[in-house]
Amino acid sequence: MVFNIEPQERKIFEVISDTARELGYPAYVVGGYVRDRLLARPSKDMDIVCVGSGIRLAQHVAARLRPIPRVTVYKRFGTAMLKHRDLEVEFVGARKESYRSDSRKPVVEEGSLEDDQNRRDFTINALAVSLNEEDYGMIIDPFEGLEHLEAKVIKTPLEPGKTFSDDPLRMMRAIRFATQLDFEIDPETLEAISKYRSRINIISRERIATELNKIILSDEPSVGFKLLFDTGLLELFFPEMTALHGVEGRNGKAHKDNFYHTLQVLDNLSHKTHDLWLRWAAVLHDIAKPPTKRFHPEQGWTFHGHEVLGAAMVPRIFKNLRLPMDAKMKYVQKLVRLHLRPISLTKENITDSAIRRLLFDAGDDIDDLMLLCEADITSKNPNKVKRYLENYELVRDRLKAVEEHDHLRNWQPPISGELIMETFGIQPSREVGIIKNAIREAILDGEISNEYEAAFQFMLDKGKEIGLKVHQNNT
Ligand code: CTP
Repeated sequence: MVFNIEPQERKIFEVISDTARELGYPAYVVGGYVRDRLLARPSKDMDIVCVGSGIRLAQHVAARLRPIPRVTVYKRFGTAMLKHRDLEVEFVGARKESYRSDSRKPVVEEGSLEDDQNRRDFTINALAVSLNEEDYGMIIDPFEGLEHLEAKVIKTPLEPGKTFSDDPLRMMRAIRFATQLDFEIDPETLEAISKYRSRINIISRERIATELNKIILSDEPSVGFKLLFDTGLLELFFPEMTALHGVEGRNGKAHKDNFYHTLQVLDNLSHKTHDLWLRWAAVLHDIAKPPTKRFHPEQGWTFHGHEVLGAAMVPRIFKNLRLPMDAKMKYVQKLVRLHLRPISLTKENITDSAIRRLLFDAGDDIDDLMLLCEADITSKNPNKVKRYLENYELVRDRLKAVEEHDHLRNWQPPISGELIMETFGIQPSREVGIIKNAIREAILDGEISNEYEAAFQFMLDKGKEIGLKVHQNNT
């Protein structure tokens, strides 16, 4: 079969082809670029394999392109990369079997195109397009990759145990591709993932997390999590998540399976947002349900405080998975901690004060929090879903009205600590904190409005109450 070369790639293909011919290196486009183009998915990374020196080919190709791009050489890996327009093109010499059993560090050995295709992870990633004169544009498909693209199947080119032992990250990649592309994993390949799962332990957590994040960013992330769970991989790097699995019943009362509930929430939310960290908040919102689970003869199962303990668990989980320990982690923590608050506002007779407090606590993340809460509705009963959503609509209306009136989102105290110290002629002390807190509470309770004049008067009253005198210069 011939590859349909698009106008925008014609030029670069021709330059590589001409250069390779002059150097006497047969050259091919391989891997993800070919796969994605055949699937009509956008692709910005192009891998070129040549039978010869990839670095030399890259340098000669670069000299012919306009403007001449800089070539980045990775000597240790024998590869070179250049950027041309919006494409990142990587060059490498064809390699033979290149992994040792105790590590995933490749041992580089020159080989033929066939050797190179043999050592690739999946049949759909082992497709090559010839850039050579005699068969320019031909697709070279030794493992029925085209058929598998058509049938939507992820399958290893060789015996799966070998492919996964060579590089256990591929077990994660298989699941990631299945999720991202909506493909099935071939049964034999899937079985091998279960069998060789513990090999994942030689892979760094960073690389595992990169794949996990790609799963989370897919249209239906639950597909990937179910595969990770069923193959036993998830347990090995994210045991807090597998602990959510299972249903316990006592005295005829059973709780829901929090693993599948979490996945449903994640899928629901993924229909509304592509934000990775908001999706992470869905993954983690109920993470502390297992350790907070109690059974009461009257109430049945409870998970009191799971939002607080869940927020406290977030840093450790992020650290274990080498996720960023920065503002993103804090954001996820905040959403986990607050995820029950909006539901408490759907009850009757909710005061403005309660609404103000949520605005104050959530700040700019209030809209994300509402999205998470709406996604958290997983009832199978459409009437219930409708009713819950309508309730949240009312909460949104109230939030909007109170915000318009009080401007509490990203609240800044109308009276600073400096002004308090200056007014009463005092140094930084407990009293300053007492007054600041009292002003904030009075505003949140609606006792005074959120503005300078009212807060200043309140400060004077409060100061007097705790025995402070207005400083001479201020009278
Ligand atoms: N590859 C492999 N084993 C790996 C990683 C990569 O065999 N563990 C091969 C595959 O042939 C893959 C190619 O190297 O197609 C390029 O890898 P990479 O850029 O990581 O992945 P892509 O397949 O291009 O997909 P994506 O960009 O979505 O990660």
